[in-house]
Amino acid sequence: MKIHFFFVTKTCYNKHVINMYDIENVKQTVKKLVNEERYNHCLLTGDAAKELAKKYNYDEKIAYIVGIAHDIAKDFSKEEIKKWADKYQLPKELLKDNYKQLIHADIGAIVCQEWFGFNTAMCRAIKYHTVPDEEMNLLDKIIFIADKIGRTDIPEDLKDLKEVALNNLDEAIILFLEKQQIMLKKHNRDLFPRTIKLLESLKKE
Ligand SMILES: [Fe+2]
Repeated sequence: MKIHFFFVTKTCYNKHVINMYDIENVKQTVKKLVNEERYNHCLLTGDAAKELAKKYNYDEKIAYIVGIAHDIAKDFSKEEIKKWADKYQLPKELLKDNYKQLIHADIGAIVCQEWFGFNTAMCRAIKYHTVPDEEMNLLDKIIFIADKIGRTDIPEDLKDLKEVALNNLDEAIILFLEKQQIMLKKHNRDLFPRTIKLLESLKKE
């Protein structure tokens, strides 16, 4: 089955839109929408994103705010997800359980654009933070890895992920994806095709 992915291009400013750099407002909004544990993860992801941005000369403020917001839609109800999916005419397949990982990221990107006026690059990093693609740019990579190290329950075999990431971001992505692939294969599953392409291209470099 071929899934078509949307691209955030429409800029929608309405009276509820807040300044995308208004970190306090983004924090308060995220806090209202996710459970306490997830909110703590969002804060840790923001911190990790800022640290990686500093290391790799990316705008720390942008990385921090995207890190805070990346899971904004993760605790949305099925009804809420459907409402956003209908509004933006996302493919119906994405509402199925096997695409759970994709849909919260897709909806999160849309929500952040609508409510906070996040730009295309910021929305892209949110959209691809769970299932990355071959076109990953620096902010995408920062948010992807920040999401994995910005937590208190890092698995034993990924304890050195932060250290690797601060040394070489691509190597950290390879390390994470290879472990994820091994785990999925134990259950007769695999990474999404777009992520397999990314892994293969990173390993070639
Ligand atoms: Fe996350």
